[in-house]
Parts: sequence; structure tokens; C-alpha cells
Amino acid sequence: MYSARLSIGSVSKKAGNFSFLGKRLAHSHALSNTVHDIVAHSGTAKEGESVTVKGHIRNVKTMKSHAFIDVSDGATHHAVNILLPDPKLTTDLHLKVGQAVEVVGEFKKSEVKDNVNEIHCKEMTVIGNVPDKYPIQKKATSMDFLRTLPTLRHRTATVASVFRFRSYLEGCFMDFFRSESFIKVSPPTLTSSDCEGAGELFYVGSTGKKNFFKKNAYLTVSTQLHLEVLAASLNRVWTLTPCFRAENSDTNRHLSEFWMLEAEISHVEHVHQLTQFAQKMLQSVVQSKGEASKTVVGGFEDMSSSYRSQEKVDILSQRWNTLLEDQQWPTITYKQALEIINENKGQETELQWGDTLTTEHEKWLAGTHFQKPVFVTDYPKFQKPFYMRQSSPDVYDSEQPTVACFDLIIPEIGELIGGSLRIHDYQELTREIESRGMDKKALDWYIGLRENGTVPHGGFGMGFERLVMYLSAQDNIRDVIAFPRFPGSCNC
Ligand code: 4AD
Ligand code: MG
Repeated sequence: MYSARLSIGSVSKKAGNFSFLGKRLAHSHALSNTVHDIVAHSGTAKEGESVTVKGHIRNVKTMKSHAFIDVSDGATHHAVNILLPDPKLTTDLHLKVGQAVEVVGEFKKSEVKDNVNEIHCKEMTVIGNVPDKYPIQKKATSMDFLRTLPTLRHRTATVASVFRFRSYLEGCFMDFFRSESFIKVSPPTLTSSDCEGAGELFYVGSTGKKNFFKKNAYLTVSTQLHLEVLAASLNRVWTLTPCFRAENSDTNRHLSEFWMLEAEISHVEHVHQLTQFAQKMLQSVVQSKGEASKTVVGGFEDMSSSYRSQEKVDILSQRWNTLLEDQQWPTITYKQALEIINENKGQETELQWGDTLTTEHEKWLAGTHFQKPVFVTDYPKFQKPFYMRQSSPDVYDSEQPTVACFDLIIPEIGELIGGSLRIHDYQELTREIESRGMDKKALDWYIGLRENGTVPHGGFGMGFERLVMYLSAQDNIRDVIAFPRFPGSCNC
């Protein structure tokens, strides 16, 4: 096994020298400090205080009289800059980008920069070596190339920052929903129902056992039906759950396994209650963009500091600001969307009632026409799943029947959220299921809810990766999920 170790002089281990960082190390079972801990402490560190840094070498810089290495560990975008007293040490120890190292050093006031503490290396161990062709180097690397390195790409500053952001975002939603009296629930991902009725199910089998559940079972496409059951007992529920769709969409915004944030709310009578709430939810998470986010791991500052190009930072800022603008986002019906597109987009053929709004139409509406998020409500009933309630009388037209639903479409991405009021009347739901020729028996558990103290309710689902993609200014959904699954790819 490769091992290299270097001691420079003696490291003082007197109790007095171990303040913040030393005390933790002295406690034998405490976890070691992350680079985030060390950076946070360095401003107030005492001269000569001992510190142990563990991480990967991000950069090696050799000067005439000394050398520097940057060590990072992914816990923050910062790297710790460590001074080696002799440039020869980098060659003696064969130091390379990517190696895992443990450095014992001392904080010293910088001789060239005011009020900056440097870490001077006293002892260094290469814990994990890398091959000479370690593919991740200091220079910028394209996301296309990084996708070919499924186990290493998270080590780069940008990809790591996306994952810190994703983690941070989950916490924001947790806070938001708690403040709105929602209960977080964990519906199953194994199910016997096709929630969306689109036939995009992954079948579940079991090695060696046919028909394990004694009926067909699938990976869920949406947990909505189970959430409706839970909302009937807990009033307001939400979840963030993996969903699976066997759709053959090889695009930059589709995954076969993605995470959906879903909310289901009792006592909702109008679709605009849902749109207003969805806007409030999204704005609550982007509000953290300001001053307060400077020290937050995964917050706006953390992510923007990880991007090298100013252009990318500007896009990032503009996207957060687009969601932040606090007036009510435009809300138009599907019919009005067709009119706006036909009048303004300059298409070859006019859209007719019943035509699908394509991703291109959605991006044009939100990105070019309104230049902000837009709610599109009341789509044709035949385009939507069985559970959606009829549109409210002020917009309903029996010649062109529509349902009380909405999509939130945002610039660059298109559809981010889909939601609706649900049919809460037993007879109406039964009629709808039968008229679509669906297997009513398989849905008895769900329909039965309407016979047991039913209430008007509704909810929505948001593609979590699509939001992460938008707010982290990434162009491909495969770069914001740790191990992307898409048609033809489930490799590790
Ligand atoms: O619009 P969808 O299909 O709605 C439902 O499944 C409802 N049952 C949700 C509910 O009301 N509880 O999906 C919701 C969102 C979409 O707007 C989109 O953002 C995302 O899920 N989504 C996908 N994201 C990534 N890859 C895919 N293949 C996706 N399919 C849908
Ligand atoms: Mg949808």
C-alpha cells in the first residue's frame, strides 16, 4: 500500500495549544473536524494553535522557497490553504491532486496578508494515493466529461456544491412545511396502482419468486393516491419521495428515477388556493438568498462561490431573483395560453383547443413572453388523469370540458409542478373510472375513501431535480442527482 509521511520539526501537543480544534481531537471518539469547521474557526484561531486537516488535495503550488497545497473535503466550497516550508517536499512526497491526506499544522499569522491566518504544515500523511492519470484536475472540466466518471464527479467543486445545495433545499422545505402545519409522511414506493394512468410503470418482480405480492406490483409514479388517504387523516401532508417512470424520454429534464415533492391538502375548494400556496412555498426557499446565507452550507453564497465563470454566477443570481419577485405570478387558463401563443409566437400553424402545450410552448410562455413563472390552469379533461375535479363554473364549458388543475411553468425548464383538485364525491369518481374503462376493483381502497367522511381536497407534485436544476443553473437534470437513471443507463 502506498504510504508517505512527513514530519517537520515537532508538533506541540501541550494542552494550551489545543483550543477549539485540539479539544475535539483530544476527545478520542469525537469525529474529526471538517474543512468547514476549520475555515469557520481560522479567523479567531490563536497563533501557534494546532490543527488537523483531513481531505483531498485540490491543488499543489510550488514556489521558490516554499509550496502550498489546497485541501478540500466537499463539506464547503472552501479549501484550506496549507503552507509547506520547503518546495522539495511536494516531490519527495509525490503530492498529487486527488490524494487523500491528513495534515497536522499550526495556525500562523500571514506575513503578507493582513488579518489572515495561514496553516503551516508540521506533519503530513498521504492516506490514499491516486493513479498518475487521476481524471479530475484543477482545470475546469465539462459536465459531459464528468458524467463519464459516476463515482468521482462529486469531488469537483461545482458538482459538490450542487449536492450541498440539494441537501440545504430539503431542509428549507422541511422548515416551510412545518411552519404551515403540514405533517411529513412516508408513503410507499411499492404500489399496486398506476396513479397517473399513463402506463409508464416499472413492474416489480422478485428473484426466484413469481408473483411475490400475489398481484401485480410496480414502483410508484407518484405517491398522490396514498397521500390523499393520509391527508384525510392528518389534514395537510407532504413528502419527498423517489418516483419511477418508464417513459422513453431521453431529454435533459427527464429521469427514470426522480424525487417528487408532493403536498396534499384537505378542505381546498379552489385551484387558486393551490397556486397561491405553491408560489408561497417556492418563494420561502429563495428568500434565503440574502446576507444570512453567507455562512450557510449549501446556500446561495456557497453555490455561487463554487462557480468559476461570472456568466454562470449571473445566471444563478437572475434565476433566484426571478422566483423572488414577490407579486402574484401570472395565472392563465389553458385556453388563454393557446390564444397568447397563437397571437404572439408567430407559429406556422395555429394551436387548436385540445392540442398539447409542448415544452417549447411552455418555455416560450414563461421564458420569452412573461419572463417569470406562470400558472396555467384548467386543461382539457381528456389530457389529464382520472382523479381531477371538474373546473369551477366560472371557466367550465361543457363543449370543451376542462378540469380544475394547474401546471407551474418556469423559464428555461418548462413544467415544474403539476397539481389539481381531486374528485371527492364517490359517485362522480366511480363514474369517471368506469367511463375510462379502468379497473375499478384495483382502486376500491382509494375510491372507498369517498364513502368515509370525504372532504374537498387537492394537492400537487413538484419535480425536485427540476427545481435544483433551475436554482443551481445546471442545464442537465442528470447533473443534479447523485446517480442518474435514464433509458439505457443504470450502471452502478
Ligand atoms: O405532472 P406530474 O405527472 O403529476 C403527478 O404525478 C401528480 N400525481 C402529482 C400530484 O398532484 N401529487 O408530475 C409532477 C412533476 C412534474 O411537474 C415534473 O416536474 C416532475 O414531477 N416530473 C419529472 N421529473 C423528472 N423526470 C421525470 N421523468 C418526471 N416526470 C414528472
Ligand atoms: Mg404534469
